[in-house]
Amino acid sequence: MAKVLVCVAWPYANSPIHLGHVAGSLLPPDLYSRYRRLRGDEVLMVSGSDQHGTPITVRAEKEGTTPLEVAERYHEINKRAIEGLDIEFSLFTKTHTENHFRVVSEVFLELLKKGYLYEKSTLQYFCPSCDKFLPDRYVEGACPSCGNEKARGDQCEKCGKTFEGGELVEAKCVHCATVPELRETKHHFIRLSEFQEQLIDWIKDKEHWRPSVQLFTQNWLEAGLEDRPITRDMEWGIPVPLPGQEGKVIYVWFDAVIGYLSASKEWAQLSGDPDAWKAYWTDPAVRSYYFLGKDNIPFHTIIWPAILMGCGGLNLPYDVPANEFLTFKGDKVSKSRGTTIDIPSLLKRFDPDIIRYYVAANMPENKDADFSWEDFEVKINNELVATLGNYYHRVLSFTYKHFGEVPEFVGTAEEREEMMNAIREARDAVAEAMDGCHFKRALKTIMDLAQFGNRHFDSVGPWALIKKDRQACGSALHLHLMLVKALATLTSPYLPSSSEKAWTFLGQESTLQQAGWSAVDSDLEAHQKLNEPKPLFSKIEVEKDEGDPVYGGFETLNLKVGRIVKAQDHPNADSLLLLEVDIGKTIQVVAGLKAYYTKEEMEGRKVVVVSNLKPAKLRGEQSQGMLLAADSGDLVKLASPPEDSVPGDAVSSGLRQSDRLIEFKDFQKLTLRVAAVDGNELDVGRTVRAKGLVELKAKRVVAYLPTPDADEALVLSTDKGPVTVDDAMPGGATVR
Ligand code: MF3
Ligand code: ZN
Repeated sequence: MAKVLVCVAWPYANSPIHLGHVAGSLLPPDLYSRYRRLRGDEVLMVSGSDQHGTPITVRAEKEGTTPLEVAERYHEINKRAIEGLDIEFSLFTKTHTENHFRVVSEVFLELLKKGYLYEKSTLQYFCPSCDKFLPDRYVEGACPSCGNEKARGDQCEKCGKTFEGGELVEAKCVHCATVPELRETKHHFIRLSEFQEQLIDWIKDKEHWRPSVQLFTQNWLEAGLEDRPITRDMEWGIPVPLPGQEGKVIYVWFDAVIGYLSASKEWAQLSGDPDAWKAYWTDPAVRSYYFLGKDNIPFHTIIWPAILMGCGGLNLPYDVPANEFLTFKGDKVSKSRGTTIDIPSLLKRFDPDIIRYYVAANMPENKDADFSWEDFEVKINNELVATLGNYYHRVLSFTYKHFGEVPEFVGTAEEREEMMNAIREARDAVAEAMDGCHFKRALKTIMDLAQFGNRHFDSVGPWALIKKDRQACGSALHLHLMLVKALATLTSPYLPSSSEKAWTFLGQESTLQQAGWSAVDSDLEAHQKLNEPKPLFSKIEVEKDEGDPVYGGFETLNLKVGRIVKAQDHPNADSLLLLEVDIGKTIQVVAGLKAYYTKEEMEGRKVVVVSNLKPAKLRGEQSQGMLLAADSGDLVKLASPPEDSVPGDAVSSGLRQSDRLIEFKDFQKLTLRVAAVDGNELDVGRTVRAKGLVELKAKRVVAYLPTPDADEALVLSTDKGPVTVDDAMPGGATVR
């Protein structure tokens, strides 16, 4: 039995964690830890909320509250989200604790005592109009190294370069956009340059590191290390533990990385043995793994190791398996508009195993991975449900129904070997991949094994075999139950709750966790009673638009160009017309437009049709759609598609259209307005930006507003041009 220290990058407590955190830094360590525990090792896995620094204060200022309030609120939210994902920390703490303050201060003083810190005058950005220093996120500008225009004062998120002040191109105060000046202020610096040789030496044998991590670190070291200020002029944070340092706090990164150590000490304290952390930090045989996203690499392969070297007597990182980014249409997921990809909201809709499966199967291990809801649905439905879930259920339900217990194996040694070889080969490949932190590869191997199971099961054909030879059928099922057991064991780091369930269906008394890794190929006892199985996963349906939440509502619609072929009076209602409309096929529509249009005016006219409303009977007549019309209160005018459009053309504004039926009440929730065109601005009762095509000659178009108070609106259009309405209509009139 070995001990392992698993350190996980501390998420900032300034917003809910999102899928990017899970893919980048949170799920991989949990997969690794669960795997190691399954193999009988002892794991200490720590992290917490990163509660200091400008990410928190900027947020607090935006919300008009205190940094403490923000930091505590998101700590609670994120801690719960992490638990909700079944990510099992030994301790998930936070940096705003007495323990952490103490440990950080001790490290600071220790380095100072050893001469690794010194005070020096330095030039920092200062905003003359805000009358304050602008640390880190208070200043933005272009990165001198990659050109990214939104680099922050301390780091460029795009290329990972870090700065210390003065390097940004066209720096601006984030508050007032004033160009800051550089002012002198005193700060404590860490003598990083002192560690250059030691670090170069240290990374020499790190051939097991991911190539990207090695390369990044080497480049940094080759460029030469410069001493860096580790204090800041601000109030929120850990005060510099020295007299005469009022108004200065320790830089958030210096504070946060020490969290790995302080959290281990806190865990030991809580465990009742205050020295228990030492076993994980001072025994050189214990490996420590640091899981993080690529933007955090330098802090973990250079700065933190330098701090540790400075302190002495503590283990340096063994591996730093940094992940690339999960992107959303090319943007880092955190910055996407995808508010629905935050974990608390995701957990309301999906079981943790579903989210875990998707993230592991699409993990950005060697390159960025793109997230889309479509891919999410495909991976869950076609892989998790159709391959693994289906295999489990076929085997378990058939055997339960016909035998109720583990049938006896009466086949040949070769038959058994065929199955056991497949299992053991997969097991070894999974172990090798997991040992090297290649979680996506390991999962693929497991899924291939499940696929092998499906094919083998088909070739046995138990449905026919049971009628011919019950004993032979039971024997084959015995082997498949072995495979189910192997799959449950192998998937348990990924799918902890469903694999425990599969395990119980097999009638096992212990938990899978207790049974451990050897359960992969251990024997199954014949006549062991089975428990009634239930399907472990079911298909999910995500609306295809959810990736683009801004126009998600619009994308629930299916709008088509239609032509009114025939208009008649409704037999049972004076105010209604019965229309035959060609939308590529002919549908019947009941419309309340009789007061505004004659039948003659209607016939032959092109209209815009909501074609995916649930069909309804209106006064006894079937209505299969609705015509869009603007209503100002006294005027009602039909919306018109572009002149050269033809029936059946999509009015999709270049977005996706839904093929699911919606209720009228859902349609009513959407905000469609007449928009008066003014250049690229739209007057919808107030002025908003236009998204989508606006033809210069159009004066009135129909616009979709994602929310009633949105500042951007989508112009309805086909690929030939916008949907227009009569000029007499005022901007802001409703369309329904
Ligand atoms: N809060 C940082 C981020 O989200 C990560 C801190 S990792 C630690 O990018 F090592 F400093 F804790
Ligand atoms: Zn300013």
